Amino acid sequence: MRAVCALLLAAAAAFAALPATTTANKFSINWKPNTNYSDWPAQNGPFYKGDWLVFYYTAGQADVIQVDAAGYNKCDATNAISNYSKGRTYAFELNETKTYYFICSYGYCFGGMRLVIKTENLPPPSPPASAKAKSAAPAASRASLLYAAAAVLAALLRMV
Ligand SMILES: *[C@@H]1O[C@H](CO)[C@@H](O)[C@H](O)[C@H]1NC(C)=O
Ligand SMILES: *[C@@H]1O[C@H](CO)[C@@H](O)[C@H](O)[C@H]1NC(C)=O
Ligand SMILES: *[C@@H]1O[C@H](CO)[C@@H](O)[C@H](O)[C@H]1NC(C)=O
Repeated sequence: MRAVCALLLAAAAAFAALPATTTANKFSINWKPNTNYSDWPAQNGPFYKGDWLVFYYTAGQADVIQVDAAGYNKCDATNAISNYSKGRTYAFELNETKTYYFICSYGYCFGGMRLVIKTENLPPPSPPASAKAKSAAPAASRASLLYAAAAVLAALLRMV
């Protein structure tokens, strides 16, 4: 019983010491005419700096134009920040913490084919279980942490 408890504690400590994952998310969006995208961000977010938006669309039927807030409000692509109309997919990295605006310039914007994406900074990782774990965690791999947990367990077992 005590051994099981020690094992669980050691395993929990090892996993708590792992750094928070910082993997970027990829959001696929079916970008098509006669669709209202005003609820899409709330339904699919939150979005963090470093995430990717992947637009799937039909060339000749839609394009992906990044504009500013004024361009978004007026469905006006004149002052485009970026402009993509080739191929079938467009991967866009949300590489800054800000509000991004996208429209389709083919006239469908007025029907709702426009998108506002607000990106946030990744929340800071939760504090490590102990100062000792903190110094060990960043460089340590999962395997070496498990090895350390096993060593702790072995030491505890010798004590009982
Ligand atoms: C996008 O770029 C193409 C070629 O670079 C240009 O012909 C087109 O007018 C641009 N569209 C918009 C909406 O800026
Ligand atoms: C984000 O990407 C855009 C387009 O590639 C680039 O112009 C801009 O400098 C980038 N921003 C940062 C902070 O890297
Ligand atoms: C899109 O939907 C939003 C809310 O769901 C609504 O306020 C807006 O008028 C709609 N836009 C169009 C062009 O129908």
